[in-house]
This record gives sequence, C-alpha cells and structure tokens, in this order.
Amino acid sequence: MSKSSQADPADKIAPSILSADFARLGEEIHAVEKAGADMIHFDVMDGHFVPNISIGIPVLESVRRMTKLPLDAHLMISEPARYVEAFVKAGANLISVHCEVCTDIPAMAKRIRGLGARASIAINPETDADRVMPFAEHLDMILVMSVHPGFGGQGFIPAALDKLRHIRRELKRRGLSIDVEIDGGVKLDNIADVKAAGANVFVSGSGVFGNPDYRKIMGEMRELIARIPATI
Ligand code: DX5
Ligand code: ZN
Repeated sequence: MSKSSQADPADKIAPSILSADFARLGEEIHAVEKAGADMIHFDVMDGHFVPNISIGIPVLESVRRMTKLPLDAHLMISEPARYVEAFVKAGANLISVHCEVCTDIPAMAKRIRGLGARASIAINPETDADRVMPFAEHLDMILVMSVHPGFGGQGFIPAALDKLRHIRRELKRRGLSIDVEIDGGVKLDNIADVKAAGANVFVSGSGVFGNPDYRKIMGEMRELIARIPATI
C-alpha cells in the first residue's frame, strides 16, 4: 500500500506533435491515437519567450477536430494572459503557462479553470521549483522542463530528476496527488528514471515521432514505466 493516503496519479504518455510531420498532421495524430497515446502535447512558441516560432490557435482548432484525446497546450509565450481564453475556446483541455512570465499563479489558475480547462504551470530548467510549489493547491499539473524550451530533439538535462523528486515529495507531504509532467529529451533510456523521480505524464516528441513504429515505441515506454511501482 502506498504511504500516502492519496492514490498516485495515472501514468500518461503525451506525444509532442512538434516532431510530427506537419504536412501530414491529421494522419500523424490518428496514428499516435491508435498507437495508444493518452494525450496530445501541443507546443506553442512565440519567438520571444523562446527563440523559435511554432504553431498556434488555428492549428489547435484543426487538431481538436481530428482527435478526442485531451489536448495539452504548452504555452511558451511571453504574454499568456492575452491568449489563454483563445486556446481554451479552440479546444485545449489543459493549459500550461510558464511561471517565468506569470506574476500571479493562483489568479492564472483560477482563470484557466474558470474557462473550463485544467491549469498547469511550467518551470524552466534554470528556475527553482519553489517559485511554484507555494501555489500547488491551485494547480492540476506542474510541468518540469528537462530541456531549454524552444526546440525538439535536445538532450535530457539530468538535474530535472532532482527537481521532480523535490516536487513529488513536497506534493505527497501536503497530500496533493496532482499530475507532474516531464518535457524534453524523454526516451526509452531515461523514462524509467523519470518515473522513479516522480513524473507521471511523459511528453516525448522525437522519442515517438522519430521512430517508425509508434505503437511499438509507446508500448515499450509504457512497459518500462509500469515496472516502477509507485512514485516516491
Ligand atoms: C520543447 C518542447 C517539447 C519538445 C519535446 O521546447 O516543449 O515539448 O517538443 O521534444 P523532445 O521529446 O524531442 O525533446
Ligand atoms: Zn512542450
């Protein structure tokens, strides 16, 4: 039996479509859905908060029509308050806003929840988790970046494991069983360590889409995380 009175949140695999073939986006989404994805990770970049530009509201609207899976919108943008409503209206089920550009985390979470979506705060590799932890009660998820945001296909930053452990321990201590998502460089060779450190939502872009057989790779990921019995 778990030491905590709260059940551990379920494991979820979230392929990041940043690494999909955008010319065949519909097919790619159907393929990962059929192959067992739990949600679709949707990376929004504004060329300001991060040094890259990706996709936005009209694409999310189209993706919404292609799948019933929850859409996990990761807003790597400088002015999230201006756009959260549009993203929820376009069909996002979960919105992650970066703590580095969020001055009032409880107010932002309340706003996202009020619009009918789940609220998450993302933390960059160089940002201390304690910038977010005081507000954990207001959140449905905490997103830990394990690469510098902006590009797919980067190497996993190992210090993210300590951050995950700190976050999950603190959540357990406070009886909170919310999702903790890890994003960046998640592959077969580190997914078990990431689960053991406390993550339960696993974003993988190049790790899934860089592989010819989505069902096989996600099946292998799921097998590896299922072997780790419980979060810390
Ligand atoms: C990076 C994005 C990630 C990215 C992950 O800024 O937030 O979601 O797509 O891609 P991989 O798994 O290739 O690191
Ligand atoms: Zn992301």
